[in-house]
Amino acid sequence: MTVAVITGAASGIGAGLARHAASLGMDLVLADWDAAALQATAESLSTEVLAVPTDVRDEAAVQALAKAAYDKFGSVDLLFNNAGVLSSGLTWEIDSATWQRSLDINIGGVVNVIRAFVTRLIEADRPSRVINTSSMGGFLPSPFMAPYTATKFAIVAISEALAGELAAIGSGVRVSLIAPGAVKSAIMDEQAPAETSEFMTLMRDMTQANGLTPDEFAPLVFAAIERGEYWIMPQSEALDQGIRDRTEMILKREQPKSFLVDSDGEQDGR
Ligand SMILES: NC(=O)c1ccc[n+]([C@@H]2O[C@H](COP(=O)([O-])OP(=O)(O)OC[C@H]3O[C@@H](n4cnc5c(N)ncnc54)[C@H](O)[C@@H]3O)[C@@H](O)[C@H]2O)c1
Repeated sequence: MTVAVITGAASGIGAGLARHAASLGMDLVLADWDAAALQATAESLSTEVLAVPTDVRDEAAVQALAKAAYDKFGSVDLLFNNAGVLSSGLTWEIDSATWQRSLDINIGGVVNVIRAFVTRLIEADRPSRVINTSSMGGFLPSPFMAPYTATKFAIVAISEALAGELAAIGSGVRVSLIAPGAVKSAIMDEQAPAETSEFMTLMRDMTQANGLTPDEFAPLVFAAIERGEYWIMPQSEALDQGIRDRTEMILKREQPKSFLVDSDGEQDGR
């Protein structure tokens, strides 16, 4: 039986991954700091589910999550490091608590999960995979949400470091990186400060118009895992062009062109 652990499983992409994993008959360990929503997700699934309310910032809680997962199921095959938050604002005006919260959840949480589970995955000596969720913002820096884009860049780097280290020790534990484009979820629900509310409205409108639902997105992720892919970028059209343009810009030492900001510095859509 395949066992999947999913953090941030109470909403959006994580809940979609949980529903699809359940439809494939996998046993599930679901974690989220929103205990009520986590319980509701768990109860909606017709598979064996262990729901563990967990704040991924809390190292002891994440260690307890790993222990609970192994006590219940004895092994883990797929480890989805999915929990994340998005804050918007001007880099110099976002308060230090908001900066710290993004760093602690989006980077610290991922590191806590890696530290709690990867030794066990290595020792189990069976095929398994760590799947970290970054973003298009992990490849293409975005103005007005520096904590988000910075932390998602970090996940790109941590994932490649992890994959290299596992290969170096000859482990069969594999790594994948998910870089979603727009997926309809609660991530942009946080109140935006006045200076960035227009930008966030554009982002929300784009997601509503072009985004996938979590239930459309999840099967694409599992199909990529089935193919053994490292880079899981199902909405690749915009991302690929963005990566090409950005690489070209760096190689030519050009001024950065910012996402959704035109050459006059105006936010597109004004
Ligand atoms: N939705 C998108 O368009 C999009 C695009 C790119 C990347 N992502 C990434 O996908 C992941 C999932 O986001 P989503 O869009 O489904 O958002 P979402 O807000 O709907 O879901 C995120 C879940 O993470 C949980 N969470 C947040 N902080 C937590 C913590 N400290 N401990 C435990 N759980 C916590 C939330 O309660 C929520 O259930 C995030 O890492 C996000 O950055 C989303």
